[in-house]
Parts: sequence; structure tokens; C-alpha cells
Amino acid sequence: MRLENKVAVVTGGAQGLGQEMAIRFAKEGAKVIAVDMQDLSYEQENVEGKILNVTDTEAVQKFYDEVIEQYGQIDILVNNAGITADSMTRKMTDEQWNKVLNVNLKGVFNLTRHIGPQMEQIGGGSIINISSVVGVFGNIGQANYSASKAGIIGLTKTWAKEFARKGVPVRVNAIAPGYVLTDILKTVPQDLLDKFASMTMLKRLGQPEEIGNAALFLASEEASYITGQVINVNGGMRL
Ligand SMILES: NC(=O)c1ccc[n+]([C@@H]2O[C@H](COP(=O)([O-])OP(=O)(O)OC[C@H]3O[C@@H](n4cnc5c(N)ncnc54)[C@H](O)[C@@H]3O)[C@@H](O)[C@H]2O)c1
Repeated sequence: MRLENKVAVVTGGAQGLGQEMAIRFAKEGAKVIAVDMQDLSYEQENVEGKILNVTDTEAVQKFYDEVIEQYGQIDILVNNAGITADSMTRKMTDEQWNKVLNVNLKGVFNLTRHIGPQMEQIGGGSIINISSVVGVFGNIGQANYSASKAGIIGLTKTWAKEFARKGVPVRVNAIAPGYVLTDILKTVPQDLLDKFASMTMLKRLGQPEEIGNAALFLASEEASYITGQVINVNGGMRL
């Protein structure tokens, strides 16, 4: 039990990578609050689903107050909710730009501005921000998404300094996954997925469990001396 007695919030926890992490954390002893705009697509003991739009500042404040009231504290935060709205830059609309930046960056800020300082107060915690291989290397047709995922790396490094400035062990790290088969890839044509697989050293796409493994490690005390880092979990890919 690597997360015994811990309370974890996982955003975008209804499906995909968020589902994987919520289930993994619960199986390791954590009480998990999986927030999403939709109901959970699964049932798991010690995972409670809550409907929340991470971009809604007031709703996030209310959610935070309720969780503290109900669970007392939050030890682990995974900022995982994320979307894409791809287009070549020349054709990208304001709506596409704003939507992606709002969920992928503002949503991360919204949760962390409450939970990060709370971790300082309770004497520690682990924040895991889900970036992307696209945030590290860039990608054609994803200016909005790559800006948001690169922004997450800046937030990670800033918060690793800010929340630990008084010597409290609040650790903040990012995971930059490569291509992993979840719904977010359902609009990507198969030939492109095959190409992405061939661009990895391991010649395949990733599995959700492989991102879950990295998240569990970073959430646990095994990663007690790791902060301000970006862990690339991408099969050795370079876009
Ligand atoms: N799957 C991949 O290949 C891959 C690669 C790199 C990074 N990522 C990142 O991993 C994260 C999880 O992606 P996934 O692959 O599981 O995708 P997914 O689409 O299966 O899951 C994303 C979840 O986020 C939720 N969500 C979207 N907007 C939200 C909002 N405003 N408030 C609350 N929840 C919201 C969705 O309802 C959904 O359940 C994302 O940040 C994504 O950018 C995924």
C-alpha cells in the first residue's frame, strides 16, 4: 500500500489516463476524488466521482471547500483534464485557441491555487501535472495544445519552487506522455498512429498503465527527492 491514508484529487478522472490513475491510487490505499464534466465510466471502491468543470473558478472554489470539509485534507493532486482542438495555425480560430488554453492551463491553475498552498499548510504533498510529448517537442497542427502543454512545464517548475520555498516538502512534477490509446486519439487517423508508433524507440504506442505507473511513483514517497522535473514516458519518442 504505497498511498495508505492519502487523499488524492484526479481531474479528468472519468475515463482514459485519469481513470487509470484514480483506480491505481485507490488500489494503493488512497481515497480518490475523480472530478470530470461527465460521470465516471467505471466503479471502483474508494473512488468518488464529482462533476466539475475545471475552468469554472467559482465551482472549483466550492469543490475545494467541500473536499476539505469531507476529507480534511488533500495530499495528492493530478492535473490531468485536457482537450485538443487541432488546426493549422493559419486556420486556427479564437475559439479553438481559447478553449484549449482554458481547460489545459487555466484549469490546472484553478485547482492548484487552492490545493498547493493547502499542501504547504499540512506539511507536504505531491502535485502531478500531465503535459505531453507535444509540449516538449511541438507538433504540426497543435499550436494551441503545444502552448498549453509547454505552459504546464513552466507551471510545474514555478510551483516546485513556490510551494517549497519555506522548506515544506511539496513536490511538483510533470509527466509528458507520448501517444497512448485513449479517446483523445480517436480523431487521429490510423496511418498517423502507426507513424507515431514507428517514431518511438520501442516501436509501439503506450498503454494507460504505463502512465499510471509513473504517476503512482511520483505520488508516492519513493519519489521523495524528485521535484520540478518532467518525466517523459514516451517509449523514446521524439516528435
Ligand atoms: N492519450 C494520449 O496519447 C496523451 C498523450 C499526451 C498527453 N495526454 C494528456 O493526458 C490527459 C488525459 O488524456 P486522455 O488521453 O485520458 O484523454 P480523454 O479524452 O480520454 O480524457 C480526458 C478527460 O478530461 C475530461 N475533461 C475535459 N475537459 C474537462 C473540464 N473542463 N473539466 C473537467 N474534466 C474535463 C474529459 O471529460 C475526459 O474524461 C490530457 O491532459 C491529455 O492532454 C494524453
